[in-house]
Amino acid sequence: MKEGIQRRDFLKRTALAGVGIAAAPYISLGKSSNKDKVRIALIGVGYRGRNHLQNLLNNPDVFIPAIADIDPEALKKANEMIDKAGHKKVDIYTGHDYAYRDMLERKDIDGVIISTPWLWHTPMAVDTMKAGKYAGVEVSAATTLPECWDLVNTYEETGSHCMILENVCYRRDVLAVLNMVREGIFGETVHARCGYLHDLRAVKFNDGKSYSGPGVEFGEKGHAEARWRTQHSLKRNADLYPTHGAGPIATMLDINRGNRFMSLTSTSTKGVGLHDYIVKHPAGGPDHPNAKLKWKLGDVVTTTITTARGESIIVTHDVNLPRPYSLGFRMQGTGGIIDFDYHTRRLFIEGQTKDHWWEEADPHLEKYDHPLWKKFEKEAEGGGHGGMDFFMDRAFVEAVKRKEHPPMDAYDAAAWSAITPLSERSIANNGEPQDFPDFTRGKCINNKPIFGIREDY
Ligand SMILES: NC(=O)c1ccc[n+]([C@@H]2O[C@H](COP(=O)([O-])OP(=O)(O)OC[C@H]3O[C@@H](n4cnc5c(N)ncnc54)[C@H](O)[C@@H]3O)[C@@H](O)[C@H]2O)c1
Repeated sequence: MKEGIQRRDFLKRTALAGVGIAAAPYISLGKSSNKDKVRIALIGVGYRGRNHLQNLLNNPDVFIPAIADIDPEALKKANEMIDKAGHKKVDIYTGHDYAYRDMLERKDIDGVIISTPWLWHTPMAVDTMKAGKYAGVEVSAATTLPECWDLVNTYEETGSHCMILENVCYRRDVLAVLNMVREGIFGETVHARCGYLHDLRAVKFNDGKSYSGPGVEFGEKGHAEARWRTQHSLKRNADLYPTHGAGPIATMLDINRGNRFMSLTSTSTKGVGLHDYIVKHPAGGPDHPNAKLKWKLGDVVTTTITTARGESIIVTHDVNLPRPYSLGFRMQGTGGIIDFDYHTRRLFIEGQTKDHWWEEADPHLEKYDHPLWKKFEKEAEGGGHGGMDFFMDRAFVEAVKRKEHPPMDAYDAAAWSAITPLSERSIANNGEPQDFPDFTRGKCINNKPIFGIREDY
């Protein structure tokens, strides 16, 4: 297992210098057509959007006709990357929140990558599909059940695809475990664990200038995710970010493809971590205005999902306390069990490994290394988050180029994102079980797996 490749970038954000560009509804910076290439536009070129932008610039099959963002600084940084890559000038759509809709009217765009604050994901993905283009939408794709249905209904009405851009599905160990599950190494699957366990306190708060670091400001006074992400912790008690864990597990358990999420129960702890951070921070203290706020989000939210095949999945959301990064993956079945994470990878396979003992999982993960990683390891290096972003962006581009069904679709986007509103409702009702809608309307019974099947993307 090339652990170095995995670890190197997984928390690194693209950091680029630059100054502002004048905001105007539409600024034409050059001609934009290239018939031989797949034409991908971007909405949102903040930190994450620029990760995608770099992968697109690295892909010789891609031409970028246009980008949309409301932040002059983000646009300036994106333009610098475009210039540095020797790419033609792109057209910029900016000036107001709906400028991206003018971009969507263009005929020379095949697909759009959306990396904006959460509340924009579904409206932008719906508009993109209605404009007849492939939507690639960041995680989570939706924040409410009606939004989940909007994604599915719009896909079914328009035939335009929506790919949820869940990069962790392409993590090397995740793909190897997917292979192992499909090879039956763990027998019949029974139980899984996963989550998002990531100390985000220095992302939720900053000084209005740096992405992560000094300061206890957020909202108007914050920078990047602190401008919009933190408010969700004030207003919602739910698993706010379920898909990095639940997406990969869903692919392993054939969710929407022979199986589906049936119901969930969620519980939450008290929420004291953010207040504690503000009070103890040198830029904060007990008299800081933000120390008076009451945070709704519990520090640890634990959700148990049941599936139609009788498995259970424990999903943890843990982002307000000091802790190392983890997605806490476990897969267990009648043949054995694996725990896999950045720091621990151990397994037990009945009849193969020593009875009642954990064994180092890396040799097994190497043996079941996914063909995609074997084939594109070199290209993936430097592709963001240890290489997994390379595979995900490439998969979006290939699906658009070949006009094919993407490997993660609108039904996945809906089912995985639905964990947020359902967990919120369960917590509000003292852990009451909440049923998942069957977003496939019964098609999940006969649907066949689509993720990680092919060896070309
Ligand atoms: N998959 C991953 O590993 C990963 C990592 C980081 C972020 N993300 C996701 O990516 C998304 C963006 O996160 P980020 O870190 O880039 O945040 P960010 O705040 O740095 O960037 C968001 C960008 O969206 C722009 N924007 C806001 N409203 C807009 C509008 N109406 N029209 C056009 N642009 C608009 C902002 O100006 C900003 O540039 C989030 O959903 C986040 O959850 C995913």
